[in-house]
Amino acid sequence: MKINLANIKKAKKILDTGDCVAVPTETVYGLAGNAYSDKACKKIFRLKKRPKYNPLIVHYYNLLRLKKDCDLNENFFKLYKKFCPGPITFVLNLKKKSRISKFVTNGKNSLAVRFPKHPIARNLLSTLEYPFAAPSANLSSKISAVSAADVEEDFGKKIRLILDGGKSSIGIESTIIDLRKKPIILRLGGLKISSISKVIKKKIKLNINPQTVLSPGQSKLHYSPGLPIRLNAKNINKNEAGLFIKKNKKHKKNNFYLSKNGNLGEAAKNLYSTLRKIKKSKYKTIAVTKIPNFGLGKAINDRLIRASKY
Ligand code: TXA
Ligand code: MG
Repeated sequence: MKINLANIKKAKKILDTGDCVAVPTETVYGLAGNAYSDKACKKIFRLKKRPKYNPLIVHYYNLLRLKKDCDLNENFFKLYKKFCPGPITFVLNLKKKSRISKFVTNGKNSLAVRFPKHPIARNLLSTLEYPFAAPSANLSSKISAVSAADVEEDFGKKIRLILDGGKSSIGIESTIIDLRKKPIILRLGGLKISSISKVIKKKIKLNINPQTVLSPGQSKLHYSPGLPIRLNAKNINKNEAGLFIKKNKKHKKNNFYLSKNGNLGEAAKNLYSTLRKIKKSKYKTIAVTKIPNFGLGKAINDRLIRASKY
C-alpha cells in the first residue's frame, strides 16, 4: 500500500495538540488520541459517547515504550513474538510510574495493549513520541467501522482527519487475552483461540460472558446495526434481509452473503460492512442462517449474538 506521508504528518500534528484522528488498522478503524494526554483521552470518550468505565486499548509501535508502562511476562513475550504486530490485545499490569492517562483505564491498574499491523497505523506510531489510545471508531454500542466512509458516516466532521487505509483486511476486532495470571480470553476476535493455545501449549479459559463485565466488548448489547436480528433462521421471509455465510444458487433480492464460498476469514472481513449495507436497505429485520461455529466463525457468531440483543 502506498502511504501518503503528508497525511501522516497532518495526523501527527493533530495528535500532538491533544486532538483525535481516525486511523485504519487491520482489524477495524480506531479513533486515536495521545494515550499520555488527559485532554485527548477525554475527547475520545466524548466523541464516541462511551461510558467512562469502559477502558481503552493503547496501541504501541514496539516494546520500548511498553516496557515503561506495563509489567511484561513470559506468556506475553511468547505471544508477542509469534503474533505481533497483529490482531491480538494483551491485558497487563499497569506500572505505577506509567504516564498513561488515568482516563484510559478509569483508574484501574491493568492496561489493554496492542500492536496494529496496518502500515498506516504503524507508520504513524513510528513518528509519535507516545502510544495512542484507540477504541473502535464507531458510536458506542454500534457496528464498528471497517472503512474511512464508515467512520465518516458515524462522526461526520466531528473528527478533523480520517486516514484512509482502505477496507480493514481482518474486519473484526482483536482477540483480547488477559495475561496477568493464568491466560484468559476476554473477547473473541481476529486471532483464533487455537492459534494462541498452540503457542501457550495449554487449553485456554474463556471468560467472554462474565457476571461482572471486565471488558465491555463483552456486554450484551453491542455491535448493534439498530435492526432486530433473528439467528439460526431456517427460512427467510420476503420482507426480511437474509444473511448467509456463502453465496447460494437461487439468488434472491433480499439475500446478502458474507463470502463467495464459505471462507470464514472472508466472512469476518465482510461482516460489519454487510450489516451496514442491510441497515441502509429497505429491510427492517435481519434473519441470519447458521454460521459454522469454529475458528473465526466463533467470533462472527459472538458478534451476531450480541448484535441480536437489540
Ligand atoms: O481491534 C481492536 O481491538 C480495535 C482496534 C481499533 O485496535 N479496538 C477496539 O477497541 O476494539 P474497543 O474500545 O472498541 O474495544 C476494546 C475492548 C473493550 O471491550 C474494553 O472494555 C476492553 O477492550 N478493555 C480495555 N481495557 C481493558 C482492561 N484493562 N481490561 C479488560 N478489558 C479491557
Ligand atoms: Mg468497539
